[in-house]
Amino acid sequence: MKAVLVVGARPNFMKVAPLVREFAKRGNVETLLVHTGQHYDQNMSKVFFEDLELPEPDIYLGVGSGSHAEQTAKVMVAFEIIVEDQRPDVIIVVGDVNSTLACSLVGAKLRIPVAHVEAGLRSFDLDMPEEINRMVTDILSSFCFTTSPEAEVNLRREGVGGDRIFYVGNIMIDSLLHYLEKAGGSTILADLGLAERDYILVTLHRPSNVDDPEDLRSLFETLGSLTEYHPVIFPVHPRTRKMIDSASPPFKSSAAFRMIEPVGYLDFLRMMKSASMVITDSGGIQEETTVLGVPCVTVRENTERPITIEMGTNVLAGTDPLKVRDAAVRILKKGPGAHRIPPLWDGRTAQRIADVLEKKFS
Ligand code: UD1
Ligand code: UDP
Repeated sequence: MKAVLVVGARPNFMKVAPLVREFAKRGNVETLLVHTGQHYDQNMSKVFFEDLELPEPDIYLGVGSGSHAEQTAKVMVAFEIIVEDQRPDVIIVVGDVNSTLACSLVGAKLRIPVAHVEAGLRSFDLDMPEEINRMVTDILSSFCFTTSPEAEVNLRREGVGGDRIFYVGNIMIDSLLHYLEKAGGSTILADLGLAERDYILVTLHRPSNVDDPEDLRSLFETLGSLTEYHPVIFPVHPRTRKMIDSASPPFKSSAAFRMIEPVGYLDFLRMMKSASMVITDSGGIQEETTVLGVPCVTVRENTERPITIEMGTNVLAGTDPLKVRDAAVRILKKGPGAHRIPPLWDGRTAQRIADVLEKKFS
């Protein structure tokens, strides 16, 4: 079997690494790792290759940033050449970023089977560019690998037949479980002067939260108000950094409310594991905190990952800063509640995906 694996943005690397490892172990799969270059800063890309022990990409498309159409089109043009040349048996895409959409479109048009890892998630909110990416990718995919039972319901509703749906679990959790012990060796807490269970970890990068300077300012005020409970540590995504740097008056970092550069995978796992709470609008972090049992307040009006609320530690607060504060204070006062880990979030998802693909192609 010859498989092309696609990565492009930060949340792709930890979803592809377990597959690269699994295929290498089996020894009967020829893999080609293609990096589109959607994310390119050292701390948004290279650090993940090191932390996740990923081989250098075989091909780097170097598309960089741009409008949605520009970025998607650049990936398509460059990726089409690779696929024409390589003619793989399958193209494996993960998640819901523009690179995912672009590469699945190319595969589908060249009639190469596409396998979508993390299929069927739906926020039912077309204001999220990712929702469009998810819907189009799923409809084009020959293999829809799902993380939770409701994903199958979503896919069937959109006309995806059961023969294309495979409930395999959550591949992000394969990486988390594989690297948790190693992350224990990270010195990031000491480096930043953070004490176990005595800080709030924040990430924000959704356009709906960060692209409007006034909305962002209100959220910052709320986060600042939480320092009466614990210091706040905020690794800032480059999209958010752009807004912070152009804000007037400037947003101030302080000892109690500290903004830092994005951190690598192992350091971030370490920071999540020992946080008193995580406040985020990330997709993947809702899932990782569920497995770690760390309370998570999600700053969004909806989530495509409802299982993290039903079973896990996630609370959907909305984007109103007062509601975010209320949700956070409630959790800080009562501590983490009971939680369960969703079925098949067990570290063996890559194995199950490889089994399905091997059966089909070998
Ligand atoms: C993208 C994904 C989003 C995902 C997020 C994960 C899409 C539509 N969005 O959002 O689903 O949750 O990645 O982090 O695919 N930039 C840099 N350096 C980089 C990368 C980006 O400075 O290495 C800056 C650029 O100014 C760029 C902006 O961030 O214009 C946004 O980057 P882009 O990849 O378009 O979207 P994200 O907001 O990162
Ligand atoms: N992450 C990281 N460093 C950071 C912030 C996040 O390693 O500074 C990891 C996080 O643990 C998760 C992934 O990046 O594995 C989530 O990516 P992101 O929030 O950018 O994207 P989303 O999941 O929202 O698409």
